[in-house]
Amino acid sequence: MVQDNSETSEIQQLAKTRQNITEEITRKFAAEDDGLQYALRAAKQAGLPEIQISPIQGKFLQLLDVACNAHKILEIGSLGGYSGIWLSRALPAKGRFITLEINPAHAELVQNAFAKAGVSDRAEVRVGNALDLLPLLEQEAPFDLIFIDADKPPYSQYLDWALRLSRPGSIIVADNCIRSGKGFEEPQDEGMAGIVAYNNRIASDPRLISLDLAMDDDYTDGFAISVVR
Ligand code: DHB
Ligand code: MG
Repeated sequence: MVQDNSETSEIQQLAKTRQNITEEITRKFAAEDDGLQYALRAAKQAGLPEIQISPIQGKFLQLLDVACNAHKILEIGSLGGYSGIWLSRALPAKGRFITLEINPAHAELVQNAFAKAGVSDRAEVRVGNALDLLPLLEQEAPFDLIFIDADKPPYSQYLDWALRLSRPGSIIVADNCIRSGKGFEEPQDEGMAGIVAYNNRIASDPRLISLDLAMDDDYTDGFAISVVR
């Protein structure tokens, strides 16, 4: 589409305004401390992809922790431990955070990041395929908040487990459910098929009240948030 100069500069101005807003909100409400910054540096040095949640999303997860009075939190997919630190920090003393990670080398990195961030007393990494580890968690359920941010094809299976391991009032959050709008279209690959199926499930499951919110750095991706009725 051809745009004249004034239209282009209007779009650029809007993008700049949005970026400024994100930076101001981050500065005021979601500043990273040394522990979070250490986790980011260590993950980058280890060659992990820089696909962690944004600081605003981290703060949002903390807000949800407190809103549901979370004492037990489950995360599926640890990456470098960045989201785990945000989630663990909002727990009360004696709270428990369990994160499931398939890659043993990444799990070690995460354990170290938790130690540096001072959350090792409550945060634990379990190594293995989540679909093998989830059935073992039934004795430790219910979890008050469950954060899904792992491989995308099994997202619906993770939702089944989240429902099984939760209670009325629990909050289930899944990352990457918008994907520039592809989360609502005919899927072109297995990963997007997982996301599209997840969105369809949470939009219609009578056990949940749900909403997708665009809230990453550029508002093109975000969380699917569900509360268990
Ligand atoms: C991918 C996975 C994520 O969890 C994410 O937040 C961004 C990208 C990916 O697999 O490409
Ligand atoms: Mg993600």
